[in-house]
Amino acid sequence: MKKYIVIVIVIAIICALAFPIVNLIVGPPVGTTITNQKVEDPAFAKVLPILEKKCVNCHTTEYKLPFYANFPVAKGIIEADIKLGLFYMNMVKELFPGEGKPPTEVALAKIEHTTLMNEMPPLRYIALHWDSMLSKEEQNLILSWVKSTRAKHYATEGIPESLKTEVIQPLPQKVKVDEKKVALGDKLYHDKRLSKDNTLACAGCHDLATGGVDRKKFSEGVGGAVGPINAPTVYNAVFNFVQFWDGRAKDLQEQADGPVNNPIEMASNWEEVTSKLNQDAEFTQAFLEVYPSGYNKDNFTEAIAEFEKTLVTPNSRFDQFLLGKADALTPEEKEGYALFKKYRCATCHVGKAMGGQSYEKMGLKADYFKDRGGTITEADLGRYNVTKNEEDKHKFKVPLLRNIAVTQPYLHDGSTDDLQKVVNIMLKYQVGKQIPKIEEEKITKFLKTLTGEYQGKILQ
Ligand code: HEC
Ligand code: HEC
Ligand code: HEC
Repeated sequence: MKKYIVIVIVIAIICALAFPIVNLIVGPPVGTTITNQKVEDPAFAKVLPILEKKCVNCHTTEYKLPFYANFPVAKGIIEADIKLGLFYMNMVKELFPGEGKPPTEVALAKIEHTTLMNEMPPLRYIALHWDSMLSKEEQNLILSWVKSTRAKHYATEGIPESLKTEVIQPLPQKVKVDEKKVALGDKLYHDKRLSKDNTLACAGCHDLATGGVDRKKFSEGVGGAVGPINAPTVYNAVFNFVQFWDGRAKDLQEQADGPVNNPIEMASNWEEVTSKLNQDAEFTQAFLEVYPSGYNKDNFTEAIAEFEKTLVTPNSRFDQFLLGKADALTPEEKEGYALFKKYRCATCHVGKAMGGQSYEKMGLKADYFKDRGGTITEADLGRYNVTKNEEDKHKFKVPLLRNIAVTQPYLHDGSTDDLQKVVNIMLKYQVGKQIPKIEEEKITKFLKTLTGEYQGKILQ
């Protein structure tokens, strides 16, 4: 009896070792080449071969399977890893977003985080591929490439060199605008004549005095029509990589066309707006001075977008901290920021505006919609409504966290006013972690330091 047990154990050990030993002999299964991409940056040129050898295979659509991938069990495991890895990050696409663009800010943050935390490749993979682990030297190369790329392409202009490598950057004081167009856009933004019954301006749903939002679960359009989704803030929206929760507008100008024509928002159209404004000699004169071609959709939306670019809110306490003023945050708030980075929040809420750079699935780690209850609405489907790709279901543009303390209610479904509850929701559904209440409180306190200034006054 004992003999059999020993034999079984020996066989088990041999089996367990067979894979890694075979892998050591035949070399790593990875072989995806992406170096046909031209890489001029020397730091990137050093890192790319590492990523190609140890990472890309599970994070691309063009993977090559190792020879044993056709063995029944291996096939299942490998395919599951690739499918999941690709869902989390299409590395080739993120590293080469096109037209000579640098790697995305989100990719940098994510790769930095998994490297710092020693999370990638997954342990189960390392167990079979001993040589796939990142060496200390490789980790350092990756981390310094992340920092140098960030400093070069994503840092806030004019800040000291030593501050340029931080994952979150201070908001700039302003962005460049055409002041004459801004003045017109400002008027249009506050003009109720943009709506069918002259009752509702952009500012009606995005009040600059209340965080750039309406503080309602769902917005109310003309005639009391209720929309399907929570209104995001217009403050700092200029930093979003696309506009709307589902990214259906590519920039502020394209976005500004939406609400005017939307039957449950302003329920009007630019022809109607034009005929109303034509009766206003003073405004028409002012408009013609800047836009000789007069009233039309392109001119209206451009002026509004130009105004929105001025809605930048610098000088929050957190920004002061990022700019080197160590005592701008209390010790607890500083711990909150450290936890915000530790628990991956900053890999999605990244950059100057702390978000707005990627689409992410709501419910990455657990089924948010099942737990929330109620029916799943069209709005809940998010990016899917634009692409009709199954994997885009429930993906949303990651919202900005700037001024989060004054932009309640939260989430696309406006389901709560309680910021700490949102932190808890994020931990459960996006991060997949339960943490002590005291840490949730610190993160919440940190989020309350993100309120900045508009026209020299702290937002209320
Ligand atoms: C065997 C397949 C495999 C390999 C090899 C692999 N990954 Fe992953 N990767 C995954 C899977 C699966 C996930 C999903 C998260 C998880 O399972 O932990 C993931 C997730 C990620 C994420 C997203 C994590 C987040 O927090 O959003 C990043 C970034 C990442 N991998 C980077 C890397 C890097 C860098 C390497 C190489 C050092 C690498 N991966 C190698 C399978 C792989
Ligand atoms: C009836 C209320 C309402 C009115 C009026 C309104 N909006 Fe909105 N706004 C919303 C809602 C709701 C959304 C989110 C819609 C979505 O993502 O599908 C939104 C989204 C936006 C966004 C995108 C922000 C982001 O983070 O994606 C901007 C910018 C914006 N509105 C500006 C404007 C401008 C400019 C006007 C006037 C031309 C305007 N809004 C009129 C309710 C309104
Ligand atoms: C995987 C990406 C991801 C991670 C990680 C993540 N978030 Fe989010 N966050 C999102 C998305 C997507 C939404 C929008 C979800 C929705 O509205 O249904 C969101 C929404 C929020 C909101 C509400 C914003 C608003 O205006 O309604 C807050 C606050 C927030 N996240 C904080 C955090 C904190 C704190 C962490 C870390 C504990 C975190 N997030 C981690 C993607 C992420």
